[in-house]
Amino acid sequence: MKVYIASEKEIAKMAAQRYVQLINTKPNAIIGGATGSTPIPLYKELAKQCKAGNVSFKNVKSFNLDEYVGLDGTHNQSYRYFMNNQLFKHIDIDINNTFVPSGIDTKNPSKYDDMIKAAGGVDLQLLGIGVDGHIGFNEPGTKFDSLTHVVKLEQNTREVNSRFFKSIDEVPTHAVTMGIKTVMNARSIILIATGKSKAKIVKEFIEGPVTTKCPASILQLHPFVEIYLDEEAASLLKK
Ligand code: PGA
Repeated sequence: MKVYIASEKEIAKMAAQRYVQLINTKPNAIIGGATGSTPIPLYKELAKQCKAGNVSFKNVKSFNLDEYVGLDGTHNQSYRYFMNNQLFKHIDIDINNTFVPSGIDTKNPSKYDDMIKAAGGVDLQLLGIGVDGHIGFNEPGTKFDSLTHVVKLEQNTREVNSRFFKSIDEVPTHAVTMGIKTVMNARSIILIATGKSKAKIVKEFIEGPVTTKCPASILQLHPFVEIYLDEEAASLLKK
């Protein structure tokens, strides 16, 4: 793993350069998207680079990590809605080349892996990390060999996310997420973590043992992972 530490603004620029390099070398690259507050500065930077003519997403395909079950793309808390508004509508990607695991057969969710494979496999997967080490909706205890699957959301996760909904009853009970193996199948991975609240888990997943108790720790075993941290998220790492 390569670890880069800089300001939040700077890491967004550095990570964006990885996309620019990749897509200029491989215009039909497959990128893996993530939601949450962490990737927003990166998405803003990608929009800027695209508008400046430094990169074109015209032939790029995108597969997102996860989606709530039961929220369609018009719901303002769906991850499809997030991606459309935070990234896709600001770049020149063909919306038909963007995929979120919604509306997929929840009895056979690993079809999403088949779709990714048929497209050629993810070249660059973006990840955030939860304070418990989750990646996507893969919470502690998720098997490392998991493919795309349906998860029942923990009551705690629903409570945390209820701030975005009118009431907790509106928060979906299930989500579909790429599995840990799906993520590890990507040819390269970028994980971004910012803020003090992530410092403890950042130390744990980078310096601790590889264990399902901390899903992100599996990234230690991937050959091409770049971790971008701001100073706060990196503050507990050994120098
Ligand atoms: P955040 O979420 O970017 O909003 O901190 C990260 C995650 O839970 O994966």
